[in-house]
Amino acid sequence: MTTTTHNAARRPFGAITLGLAVVAGSLGTLAGCRGERSDKPPHQFFPDLDDQMKWKPQSGSEFFANGRTMRQPVAGTVAFGRTSLLFDEPWGETYMSQRAGLLREDDAFYRGVDETGAYLVRMPIAPSRAMVERGMQRFNIYCSACHGYEGDGKGTVGVRWSYAPANFYDPKYRDEKVNTGRDGYIFHVARNGVIGGDGKQKMPGYAHAVNEQDAWAIVSYIRALQVSRLATIDDVPSTEREILERQRAAATPSTTTADASTPTATNGGAK
Ligand code: HEC
Repeated sequence: MTTTTHNAARRPFGAITLGLAVVAGSLGTLAGCRGERSDKPPHQFFPDLDDQMKWKPQSGSEFFANGRTMRQPVAGTVAFGRTSLLFDEPWGETYMSQRAGLLREDDAFYRGVDETGAYLVRMPIAPSRAMVERGMQRFNIYCSACHGYEGDGKGTVGVRWSYAPANFYDPKYRDEKVNTGRDGYIFHVARNGVIGGDGKQKMPGYAHAVNEQDAWAIVSYIRALQVSRLATIDDVPSTEREILERQRAAATPSTTTADASTPTATNGGAK
């Protein structure tokens, strides 16, 4: 105790000099960091944090024979746990909430193809009302900008796009003898987009936003859109038919909205 007091008393000047040096030093450091450009290498206060031994994703490596830093899982690795997908509906549960969702071994569900690699004519899950409604919602979010809310290819972006988007009422999107008419192909396009023969991307893929389950839901909705223009009232179940007929009766009065079949309506009924 006495020693300390004695030292402090004997070297007041040294302590002040040290304090000044610390203050000046930190000011200098701050000034050096603050938006100053410098050609000198930056100060490294903790070099081991700046310069770590690590491999960056996608970078090359001389260590491994194939030159890649990123490694494949060991052969025979078994996936477990749930998928990270946020959406689970009863109609897709078999695939999305179990190991199947991680292994993705089911070509029909994950790629829309059969064992020979041909596009499936019909989707591998039985559509339900919930599925079609989900499909409508996803279609309206991701596809309608180009293909239009009705799927006729006349969306706000679509009419200005470098390539004309498909009109889903074109018979080739219903004819199962050609790929374009098959559920599996529409599923594939929803997720991967379209690359033309010239190698140009005509339609972007939506796999980042539309998972397999949602892509099938969208396919079911595109089918529903097609049916909506081609079906007759006789195709509608009797319970729903009554509702439709009531709506039609309510909408028919002479001053209705513009309708192609009643040309007088397009000029406001003026003669
Ligand atoms: C940015 C605009 C754009 C969006 C958004 C878009 N498409 Fe397309 N789509 C196109 C264009 C353009 C074509 C025509 C490509 C061609 O000429 O073959 C096309 C074609 C298609 C075809 C027919 C492919 C063929 O070979 O004939 C399908 C099916 C399709 N789109 C489905 C979808 C679905 C499902 C979505 C929503 C997930 C979607 N598209 C979103 C632009 C778009």
